[in-house]
Amino acid sequence: MRPSPLLLFPVLLAALPAAAQDIAAGRLKAQQACAVCHGPLGLASAPDAPHLAGQNALYLSTQLKAYRSGARRHEVMAVMAKPLSDEDIANLSAWYASIKIEAHAPN
Ligand code: HEC
Repeated sequence: MRPSPLLLFPVLLAALPAAAQDIAAGRLKAQQACAVCHGPLGLASAPDAPHLAGQNALYLSTQLKAYRSGARRHEVMAVMAKPLSDEDIANLSAWYASIKIEAHAPN
């Protein structure tokens, strides 16, 4: 007996990534909502904000979800993360992760 397509549907959904990542959409969102503190290319412009450029996407999305849920507490980032959808978080994380950075040891 062939499995019904209805039964296969959840299997196909599970095979898809949780949210598709759109770097361009993430860049646009970051320019609007994050650049004032984290810089236009993810190098922080505010002295108390961390650099995000080149950071691992998994790390970034985990932190953003933690701010959103309250598991990681920070007054400002809680407000920033609250309205973000899972898709926004995937896009923002993909954008910051895609920025190429170089590290040089001090002379
Ligand atoms: C008003 C300034 C400000 C804005 C705007 C802002 N952030 Fe932040 N962000 C901070 C500060 C300050 C921290 C450090 C918080 C802490 O100590 O947990 C931070 C931390 C983070 C972290 C954790 C980084 C790490 O190394 O753990 C991520 C990810 C992040 N911000 C993403 C974003 C994104 C995405 C946006 C836009 C939707 C945004 N931030 C908007 C100030 C800001």
